[in-house]
Amino acid sequence: MTIGIGLLGLGTVGAGVARILATPQGRHPLVGELALRRVAVRDLQRQRPIDLDPSLLSTDPEAVVDDPAVDIVVEVMGGLEPARSLILRAIAVGKPVVTANKAVIARFGEEIAAAAAQRGVYVLIEAAVGGGIPIIEPLKQSLGGNRIQRVSGIINGTTNYILSRMADEGAAYGAVLADAQRLGYAEADPAADVQGGDAADKIAILASLAYGGVVPRAAIPTSGIDRLDARDVAYADQLGYGVKLLAVAEQVGVASDGTAELDVSVSPTLVPRDHPLAGVHGVNNAILVEGDPVGRVMFYGPGAGSGPTASAVVADILNIAGIRQVSGGRFPGQPAPLDPLLAAGSWRTCRLVDPAVTQHRNYVRLRTSDEAGVIGRIGTCFGEAGVSLQSIVQFQPQGGGDGSHAEIVVITHRVLESAFRAAMAAIEALPAVQAVAACLRTL
Ligand code: NAP
Ligand code: HSE
Repeated sequence: MTIGIGLLGLGTVGAGVARILATPQGRHPLVGELALRRVAVRDLQRQRPIDLDPSLLSTDPEAVVDDPAVDIVVEVMGGLEPARSLILRAIAVGKPVVTANKAVIARFGEEIAAAAAQRGVYVLIEAAVGGGIPIIEPLKQSLGGNRIQRVSGIINGTTNYILSRMADEGAAYGAVLADAQRLGYAEADPAADVQGGDAADKIAILASLAYGGVVPRAAIPTSGIDRLDARDVAYADQLGYGVKLLAVAEQVGVASDGTAELDVSVSPTLVPRDHPLAGVHGVNNAILVEGDPVGRVMFYGPGAGSGPTASAVVADILNIAGIRQVSGGRFPGQPAPLDPLLAAGSWRTCRLVDPAVTQHRNYVRLRTSDEAGVIGRIGTCFGEAGVSLQSIVQFQPQGGGDGSHAEIVVITHRVLESAFRAAMAAIEALPAVQAVAACLRTL
């Protein structure tokens, strides 16, 4: 029984999906039953990396959704609109949707899930997080019996690729970003990658699945690698750490009404060299899930790019095609138990706690006068605020310096953010402190 696929987008991911559909030999037998029926693009004249019958292409994505020959709508066009409206349109006409669009799901997942539940169609999103790594289905199903304590990971391929090449080859930021764009890793607007927004979309989705409730995307404190100074990467290296853009979601409490209280953030973070996330290089991603009773489970693999992402998209298509097959050709008319996204009505409430009450380890680089007693005065400010220090080191300023200033790097133990901020306010007020040059998280 042939299943008609309508592709919205034929860029990096769409072309990867089309390539798999065009070469079913040696894959799951169901791939051979998937037929690409229509493809929406913006520009009919654009050169495509795949040979497709030109009559399949259209600049009218609504027509692709509405086409009676299309059974499953695959949204890989990106952006918020018209992607959101097209997904809702497909649901409204009873067509299951597969999407790689984390920006839409992180912001409109609740609306989409409610519409899908009401109409009884699947919306599957495996490709939205971690590229080729299976992480959505494991979090939804395989780890469902656990109390999830923490989900932390490297979930942006572009920034991990940039950081790896900067650290390994001393490559220049701009040149490596251009390579990431050429390789199809970066978003259409790479600001989403380098400023941390893409990772924030993804951790919002993972936290929603891990904690069973909608996580407010706009409230996630986010900083990217765009203002990261190569000096901090070098100092971190000398201290035994790598620097990674980490996204972390952690349950820190439960309110009296059952609301899950979460600490969720995205920030460049020093990762100790012996930590499992420190060995994740290039475009690879890794997600570490810590749960009770499972312990630590790590998911690792290529986090972006045409083939890996298409692999996840096609897995979702096959999931739906398989259900269609066992249900005798009809898609189920009831909300499907496979997909908790459809059970959004039964979700818990989640809330992000005030960052001031969260606890973290910190890395601070201070530019100070090079004079006797500075380190002591800085140590006193931390001590008086109740911030315990792991190490305090003076580095030679780049180029040797002229003796007029010093660079002092501090790594704290895990401390209350409000205490850390109080210490930093006192340190900034010290006459010998010229600037707080960098403030990063430390794992
Ligand atoms: P892309 O290379 O920019 O491709 C986007 C495609 O959508 C293009 O073919 C474009 O047409 C088409 N398109 C965009 N707006 C359209 C509109 N209004 N009407 C018709 N067609 C339209 O993007 P991508 O890298 O494949 O990413 C697609 C989605 O997958 C995004 O949501 C992205 O976040 C997500 N994703 C990407 C990756 C990755 O590694 N690239 C990994 C995971 C998830 P033209 O070709 O004519 O311009
Ligand atoms: N731009 C994204 C990344 C694509 O680099 O991780 C994969 O979601």
